[in-house]
Amino acid sequence: MKRRILQYLRASDDILSGEQMSARLGVSRVAVWKHIRRLQDAGYPIESTPKGYRLTGRPDMLQPWEFDGREGRMHCYGEVESTMAIARELARESCPEFTVVTAERQTKGRGRLGRVWHSQRGGLYFTIVLRPTLPSPLSSLTTFAAGRTWAVMLRDAYGIEAGLKWPNDLLVDGRKLSGMLSEMDARGEMVTFVNIGIGLNVNNDPTADEPTAVSLAQILGRKLDRRDLLEGFLERFEAKMRDPHGLDRIIAEWKPYAVTLNQAVRIVTTRESIEGIARDVDETGALLLERPDGTLQRIIHGDCFHQADAVGAG
Ligand code: BTN
Repeated sequence: MKRRILQYLRASDDILSGEQMSARLGVSRVAVWKHIRRLQDAGYPIESTPKGYRLTGRPDMLQPWEFDGREGRMHCYGEVESTMAIARELARESCPEFTVVTAERQTKGRGRLGRVWHSQRGGLYFTIVLRPTLPSPLSSLTTFAAGRTWAVMLRDAYGIEAGLKWPNDLLVDGRKLSGMLSEMDARGEMVTFVNIGIGLNVNNDPTADEPTAVSLAQILGRKLDRRDLLEGFLERFEAKMRDPHGLDRIIAEWKPYAVTLNQAVRIVTTRESIEGIARDVDETGALLLERPDGTLQRIIHGDCFHQADAVGAG
């Protein structure tokens, strides 16, 4: 109902009377009034006059009812510590797959390798719960699919040439636009859930915390609707994940967008830091690093710093 009310209000420049709305929606005027109050309480600028209602602006807000067909699976918060913690609880409590947790701000946003992910208002911060039929060593293929989905979508929808730094940072001209984090749970050999947490700089200015980062608004010179971005991503990504063969060729599909291959890199893990040339990524998503002595080392997990591109490091 809230979505339909917003649709009517958005489609009209004039004031819509309670009577018109109740006739169109097939509910009483009191019911319309109650929904309008809830929308106002949620932050929508709806003007109530004796003649009726008018939406006076379009707030950049994520709310479950803004996602047609997904409402029951969207958990949208204002401020949380981290969407990862909430999504983990939901996944453990058997929430359906493609449940999504969003936050306008995170006070303890988590980055890879224990780093902080600064999460000011204006960015897109969310975690999506997946339940793929996969053996656990292949769980990271899901994050390759997510990274590629963003790269394709940003190119198609906005003409932005985003590159993927192994394993899954999105870079534009060497600057970090987005980072991804995944958490996996398994029973026996098989995955029970993989939660992918994504932070995308959209209308925020990330440079105060991360001088080498960039946002979509800075690239395009205008603000974007985060709801449209998230919906676009979820539509594409869910279709990919629902395809029984969607991950069969994902590494081959990911490689054309990769900016790491054949680069001199430093790989940092929780235990060590090693250097070499990033020669390839194998079918499980592991990086094949050519060491100075010519041997190939298979890296399953770590953070990658491009040596030739100081701006892109990190
Ligand atoms: C990285 O590049 O280090 C990964 C950053 C991942 C950040 C996202 S924001 C949504 C989700 N919640 C978190 O606390 N972290 C991830």
